[in-house]
Amino acid sequence: PGLSVEILPETGSTSTELLERSRRGLTEPTLLVAERQTAGRGRLGRGWWSDAAPGHTLTFSLGLRLAPADWSGLSLAVGLTLAEALDPAGEHLGLKWPNDLWLRGQDRKLGGVLIEVAPLADAVSAQERWLVIGVGLNIAPLPPGAADPALFRTGHAGLQEIDPRLDAPTALHRVAAPLLRAVLDFGAQGGAAALARFAARDVLAGRRVQVGELTGIASGIGHDGALLLRDEAGRLQTVHSGEASVRPC
Ligand code: BTN
Repeated sequence: PGLSVEILPETGSTSTELLERSRRGLTEPTLLVAERQTAGRGRLGRGWWSDAAPGHTLTFSLGLRLAPADWSGLSLAVGLTLAEALDPAGEHLGLKWPNDLWLRGQDRKLGGVLIEVAPLADAVSAQERWLVIGVGLNIAPLPPGAADPALFRTGHAGLQEIDPRLDAPTALHRVAAPLLRAVLDFGAQGGAAALARFAARDVLAGRRVQVGELTGIASGIGHDGALLLRDEAGRLQTVHSGEASVRPC
């Protein structure tokens, strides 16, 4: 299918906009970019700071119909695709499960992904949904105070720290086609191929982390993309994405 691309100077949230357009009948694959978001949304009901000068962050959402046999692993496949497109050698960009882009060795976040699905009035199969993948990437590091300091103790990073020449249009150009391809591949073949590559980017592996009440050593991911934690008693616990945030401790 063709992809229509639209750039808005300003909107509340590109993801909210694509969910609303789907309710009004949009069915074509659409990439919506905003130069500025006034009500950006993050995972777990958080906000996403994207209110800076144009070009400071790249915020876009991809909406399309998808009917995978199984949705598990999609968030990892998306994060991996972004990291691989922006840093093919894997020198600088790691992933903090499930799909935060982190500057390696520094525990600083420079991007995040919000995946949402909505029912389709004219779905052709029981599995088919309207999928909206929202991506926020910091181009320049965010200014101090831009986000809740309690959430990101070590501060935010920006892609320009790894490539000073990178700007928002260039970053979009690098990630858009690989992302569409990865999502279509996921729809057709599932996430196994992506899951197998996650370990190479996993910044939590072997570290002590906390998820809600649970602490343990991050021990890779399961076949369904869940985070595996070795708890104090040596038991392997499974954490599913969307449950809580994971912090190194
Ligand atoms: C996270 O790390 O919590 C996910 C952040 C996702 C932010 C992007 S910016 C474009 C799209 N529109 C939104 O309102 N959110 C996503």
